[in-house]
Amino acid sequence: MTARLRSLAIALVTLSSLYITSQADNPISPGFPYGSQKVRGVNLGGWLVLEPWITPSLFDNTGNNAIVDEWTFCQYQSHSTALATLQNHWNTFYTEADFAAIAAAGLNHVRLPIGYWAFDVGPGEPYISGQQAYLQKAVTWAGNHGLKLIVDLHGAPGSQNGFDNSGHRISFPTWHSNQTNIARTNAIIKTLANMFKSNTNVVPIIAPLNEPAGFDGSAVLAAVKQYWYDSYGNIRFPYGSAQQSNTLVLVHDAFQPLSYWNGILTPPAHQGVAMDTHIYQMFSNNLVALSQQGHISNACGNAGTLSSFDLWTIVGEWTPGSTDCAKYLNGRGVGSRYDGSYSGSTRVGSCTGLSGSASSFSSSYKTFLRQFWEAQVITYEQVEGWIQWTWKTEGGTGEEWSYQKGLQYGWIPQDPTDLQYPNICG
Ligand SMILES: *[C@@H]1O[C@H](CO)[C@@H](O)[C@H](O)[C@H]1NC(C)=O
Repeated sequence: MTARLRSLAIALVTLSSLYITSQADNPISPGFPYGSQKVRGVNLGGWLVLEPWITPSLFDNTGNNAIVDEWTFCQYQSHSTALATLQNHWNTFYTEADFAAIAAAGLNHVRLPIGYWAFDVGPGEPYISGQQAYLQKAVTWAGNHGLKLIVDLHGAPGSQNGFDNSGHRISFPTWHSNQTNIARTNAIIKTLANMFKSNTNVVPIIAPLNEPAGFDGSAVLAAVKQYWYDSYGNIRFPYGSAQQSNTLVLVHDAFQPLSYWNGILTPPAHQGVAMDTHIYQMFSNNLVALSQQGHISNACGNAGTLSSFDLWTIVGEWTPGSTDCAKYLNGRGVGSRYDGSYSGSTRVGSCTGLSGSASSFSSSYKTFLRQFWEAQVITYEQVEGWIQWTWKTEGGTGEEWSYQKGLQYGWIPQDPTDLQYPNICG
């Protein structure tokens, strides 16, 4: 080697080690300043994944009570009927005007649930696809209005939780127990990571699986843990090399206490991972029976556990609603704990005036919704921020959950930092 070549080689080695050092110090530049600015956003629920409680009319119009989720929606109707209804829904339930209104409300993020069947429909699966075009439109609209979009895989093959919002309401999930299901899901995450790796300014985060049912036992949790590691590889390293992407991985706590996940996927060994936790106060007999003050105290009381966790944490689903009164919220044909019509529940009171159309809400109820909303916003801004479930429902139903109705009726401020009860958590 000549002296000149040798010094060139040394220069290259120096350069590349400098590069590696700076990569290690600052390996990821996300499309949003997480950690220094708060995430404030809404979910776009019930659009690309049907949910009976968000659009009850789509289900009621079928005239078939066995249609309880998107799977049966496609299974028990002719393909042409189901397809026409879905296409009309995709074209109308969300449009660019919603994205403009979301941005105008001072929000900076949307989280978009999508099912695996948008990418891969297996033999024997009745699902109808076509949602990918709307995912692309949503990304364009988010970009047009300065919003960040989180792509959220909300349903996996076999169902990760058996909920209707996974696409398939079944008594026990079968995603975790079948390696084919898991491999298909990993392939979709690779596809998504590739699709958006050069557009992280608009799509800064991929959430590889919504709400896997950790409460169903250790086999589920073992599969989920492995899947989070696989998703980390798929999302953070989409280039087939050691080069990291700028896409964040948003894993979900699988309904475990946050402390269960302490030390998992944390820096310095792992970069660009955040935790999603969902906080609802109506899906147990105890929670739904809380008084209004009890709900507010309970919300404020979550600050400690949230802020003592070791990953960036986003409360990716929550609501100012405090009952399970919304029609079909627990499933089509299933009642509510609050009024005792849910099997095994104890009646708390009448649902009248607590759900349905916001035009029926009393001013004291709207004051409570405002206080409960603010208590949660204050609490969730102790960590990286919040994404309310959901921007809208079909008119006249479950409107206590609707961010849009909250703005209209005043229980949500036009600017989410404009609090009337800044000391509500003491
Ligand atoms: C596993 O899931 C695949 C679909 O992803 C299905 O075809 C196969 O039958 C399932 N295997 C078992 C044992 O249930």
